[in-house]
Amino acid sequence: MDDTAAVLGLESSCDETAAAVLRADGTILAEAVLSQLEEHAAFGGVVPEIAARAHLDHLPRLAARVMAEAGLGFADLAGIAATSGPGLIGGLIVGASFGKGLAIAHGLPFVAVNHLEAHALTATLPGLVEGGARFPYLLLLLSGGHCQCVAVEGVGHFRRLGTTLDDAVGEAFDKAAKLLGLPWPGGPALERLAATGDAARIRLPRPLLGRAGCDFSFSGLKTAVAHAVARHPPGALPEADRADLAAGFQASVAAVMADRARHALDMLPAATALVVAGGVAANGAVRTALAGAARERGLPMVAPPIRLCTDNAVMVAWAGIERLRRGLTDPLGHAPRPRWPLDQLTA
Ligand code: KG4
Ligand code: ZN
Repeated sequence: MDDTAAVLGLESSCDETAAAVLRADGTILAEAVLSQLEEHAAFGGVVPEIAARAHLDHLPRLAARVMAEAGLGFADLAGIAATSGPGLIGGLIVGASFGKGLAIAHGLPFVAVNHLEAHALTATLPGLVEGGARFPYLLLLLSGGHCQCVAVEGVGHFRRLGTTLDDAVGEAFDKAAKLLGLPWPGGPALERLAATGDAARIRLPRPLLGRAGCDFSFSGLKTAVAHAVARHPPGALPEADRADLAAGFQASVAAVMADRARHALDMLPAATALVVAGGVAANGAVRTALAGAARERGLPMVAPPIRLCTDNAVMVAWAGIERLRRGLTDPLGHAPRPRWPLDQLTA
């Protein structure tokens, strides 16, 4: 595949509908993300059925828009890459089927992209890091649905070093935020509240800190917040306590993250960088703590810009390009998978 070949990426695994056109040299020709936050906010979380219908409504228009912006017709493409798991099955079916339809209509190769691989390979986008991150690197995938330390050794070559024993870190942020009366999604709101609080006044647990390996656990921390809130009558948590609890929670998560990252780096001594991805990578305290852990080892911390950390289609198109380059395509009969662990990938 030469550097001017272009690929259309489609993302529909959760509540973001996204499409992007990328050139094989990593140039982003066009990108669009439509968040469904408003559709789901009233329910305090993503409703799978609503998400699938919204993808069906928006994806064809979004794909047409990025193609027009890129100045390309579908027949000019070198392939179609669509997220095919893991995620909410309804949305995956919508995105993958739409992508396959385009592939059939225009005689293009189809790539069934693993959403986690797409997050993991974002750091290799040229232009993001000078020359792109080099394999192997340590990835911390910190989102609402995932919380993993992954050794990224190459396209299709991943080793999960550790994962959460209970909640994903973004989920923990969202639950703690809810306990503090903040609107969904809670992470950004909790970070804003934490900025006004004293992290040292209410000491919260730091689950698994210092423990061997690099697994995570957040349910004890969440329960500690719940107990602190429950000491007051419903709705009567003093404002200062709210802010201090938010700050204490965030400080605990950041400290645990740095500790887990140190352990994970011990497990991957050849790592060239510490890469963070996922919505929680937007959190300033978490970023600072992880940058510190990387610096101790003389490694750079690579954090893609926020719009490429959260769900997007640029990463899907890029994963598609990396696979197409290696001649890795998928049959049109490829079935989307709600569960699709990174270590079950083929390359
Ligand atoms: O990667 P993402 O956009 O979607 C998936 O889960 O795939 O991550 C969303 C998660 C939510 O749980 C949200 O609360 C959290 O990332 N998040 C944050 C921040 N921004 C987003 N958590 C803490 N601090 C933030 N600034
Ligand atoms: Zn994601």
